[in-house]
Amino acid sequence: MRRIKDKYDVIIFGSGPSAYTSAINCANSKLKVLCLDNLSSTLNKGVLPGVFTHPNSLTTICFSEGVNCYNDLINNINGIEADNLSFSISRIISRKNQYIASINQTYHKNFKELGIDFFNLSGKLISPNAIEILHQSPTLKIQTENIILATESIPIGISCAPIDHKYIYDADTSFNIGEIPNRIGILGAGIVGLEFASIWRRLGVEIILLEAQESFLNIVDNQISREAYKCFTNQGMELRLGARVTSTKIINKKVHIEFQDNDGVHAIRVDKLIVASGRKPNSRSLAAPEANLLLDENNFIHVNEKCRTNLPTTYAIGDLNMLGPMLPHKGIAEAFLVSDQIMGKQGPSVNYETIPNVIYTYPQIAWVGQTEQSLKSKGQKIKIGISSVSPKTHKYSPNSLKAFVKVIACAESDKIKGIHIFAHLASELIAEATLAMEFSASTEDIARTTHAHPSVAESIRNACQHMIIQKT
Ligand code: NAI
Repeated sequence: MRRIKDKYDVIIFGSGPSAYTSAINCANSKLKVLCLDNLSSTLNKGVLPGVFTHPNSLTTICFSEGVNCYNDLINNINGIEADNLSFSISRIISRKNQYIASINQTYHKNFKELGIDFFNLSGKLISPNAIEILHQSPTLKIQTENIILATESIPIGISCAPIDHKYIYDADTSFNIGEIPNRIGILGAGIVGLEFASIWRRLGVEIILLEAQESFLNIVDNQISREAYKCFTNQGMELRLGARVTSTKIINKKVHIEFQDNDGVHAIRVDKLIVASGRKPNSRSLAAPEANLLLDENNFIHVNEKCRTNLPTTYAIGDLNMLGPMLPHKGIAEAFLVSDQIMGKQGPSVNYETIPNVIYTYPQIAWVGQTEQSLKSKGQKIKIGISSVSPKTHKYSPNSLKAFVKVIACAESDKIKGIHIFAHLASELIAEATLAMEFSASTEDIARTTHAHPSVAESIRNACQHMIIQKT
């Protein structure tokens, strides 16, 4: 039986993507590491439960793959014909569980091989160099040289729609709806709401999205969000903007929802409601008051550009801090930054300008860098190149856009300022865009780079060439 030691070089709170990346990096440099997570995992008792703290990423991908495959078959794509097809939600859930469990076991094995101590326990920071293990008698205090807080985020609850896991689900649990309902309501048409809507809609479920804001997906480039709105409504999603949910009730096994828009109060009935109203940092009870860890009014932990908190040897990474978007790969980048600092290496800071964003809808939306509207609002002179995404056609067709790539560059220097993609493989294509921006590429650099033909990837090159063609 493993025992917690009295002293470590690094103690990490959490076991999600940013936590395990930090743990593995530090242990690779022979530091003694303790990793704590108090989540209980039903799938794999005691095994890095934090792998589930970003369930939407892995789980959405698992679900999407199954649903895409099913859709290709029912729509006879590529000439494949199949009869009597059915979709088993329980099988897809068990495949998803197996997939996550296998990732989990791999990390757990790595932890063991590197001598990282992992315990499914709650800890609390009591000073810059000490933590307390909670619910132990007598209380256990452990000394450490460094602390990394990486407990990620949790869904923001909303009092008018209390989660009961039977009719009303939050983003972290909605994949446990073990059947295909007729009608699902989704509160919030943000990233998470749209991902759920896209999956369930492709399984034939009637979807109604209720979004309090008047505008649709305003973090995305406006041209992409307009095209996405058209595309998703054509797919049969009912998107109600300016619709604020004000109350919910369960009557006769249905969720009765009241929402308010400019025309007044309306009522609808759905089989299930998914609440996707945003996430908040999971920072509650992480530190005792006497530790003096500084949090802001929204419970984000205050950090400098190196992710260092107001306590010199304590770091907060991933969704816990306000630097950049709430994305697992942002947390992973910060994990590298922080473990480098602990090992005394002076690595470069995280470049928050080049963090790729992906919305796993169908088609996907992905982008890196700035949008046309934000650049124009800053008065910057820009030029734009657009290409449709199709391995078969290579026409520049900005007037009949469906799937497309949009490249925005500085009109004077030609340096790329943003790349925005609305296409099935956007999550893969965005890697080239991110690399180009990280290396400060110009559109000419990409236009002169040979891409495989025919391929989906050449659409980024085509968008850059579109600018050159426009110029001549
Ligand atoms: P979000 O903030 O993007 O969207 C929540 C929406 O709910 C807002 O548009 C808000 O207006 C609406 N809302 C709130 N209360 C409402 C009410 N009473 N009635 C109607 N609408 C209401 O939050 P979301 O989608 O939950 O995502 C949270 C964070 O998680 C994002 O910041 C994102 O970075 C991250 N995330 C990203 C993923 C990805 O990149 N694929 C996947 C999962 C999470």
